[in-house]
Amino acid sequence: MMKKLIIAIFALVPLLVSAAGPKLPVDAANNDLADKESLKRGFKTYINYCLGCHQLQYQRYNRTFADLGISEEEGKAEYMYTGEKVGDHITNTMPAKEAAAWFGTAPPDLTLEARLRSPDWIYTYLRSFYIDESRPFGVNNTLFKDVGMPHVLQDLQGVSTIDENGKLLPAQGGTLTAEEYDEVVRDLTNFLEYVGEPNKLERKSLGYKVLIFIFIFFVISYFLKKEYWRDVH
Ligand code: HEC
Repeated sequence: MMKKLIIAIFALVPLLVSAAGPKLPVDAANNDLADKESLKRGFKTYINYCLGCHQLQYQRYNRTFADLGISEEEGKAEYMYTGEKVGDHITNTMPAKEAAAWFGTAPPDLTLEARLRSPDWIYTYLRSFYIDESRPFGVNNTLFKDVGMPHVLQDLQGVSTIDENGKLLPAQGGTLTAEEYDEVVRDLTNFLEYVGEPNKLERKSLGYKVLIFIFIFFVISYFLKKEYWRDVH
């Protein structure tokens, strides 16, 4: 029995180690799910720069429009380019097999990415591309080594290099300043956190209401208890 227990414990050790893994530091996105304008900007950037490769196959257009306060007409005109219906999932037509050949890995669906990696991770990842001529697209990423994704926001950010310690240097040649670029990425991150759990805001506000209810109920039941026991003591 003891022996089995010891074996079981040791069998778990490698699991614990890999779960810890090497964790690279990430920057805080400080995104705000309650900021609908930010979510809309993020949605737009997503449609323009990401959807070509990454689907959001668990999210529908009309749900997104409703949550973000976009009317159907506006949604159709501004966010839907390829003749889908508003009830459709946010998908693309990239064939997964060919994509895997082009990039080494097929671009994953990003509906749940913010829950898998965290918003801060996404925020940092999109700001961590640097020039590396040895890679197929000429760029690498300090957070995601030898990544198969090109730096699709290069027009906006420009390109970074790294110093001898592997630290990123400021990007050069983009149309945006560093602060403006961070803002674009923050909005995009915000949108991806929303998509990962569209009910999050509602869940949190409901949570507070439930806690307040429990508190009030506690006070009432406390006095009720005193009342009941008064004659006994
Ligand atoms: C040209 C195709 C392409 C475009 C456009 C693109 N990506 Fe990617 N992306 C990829 C590929 C391929 C991978 C897989 C990389 C790997 O695993 O090496 C990837 C990986 C990722 C990952 C990491 C997934 C993981 O493994 O956890 C994130 C996050 C991501 N992309 C976000 C974005 C965002 C946000 C945009 C829009 C700004 C975008 N991508 C645009 C091709 C693309």
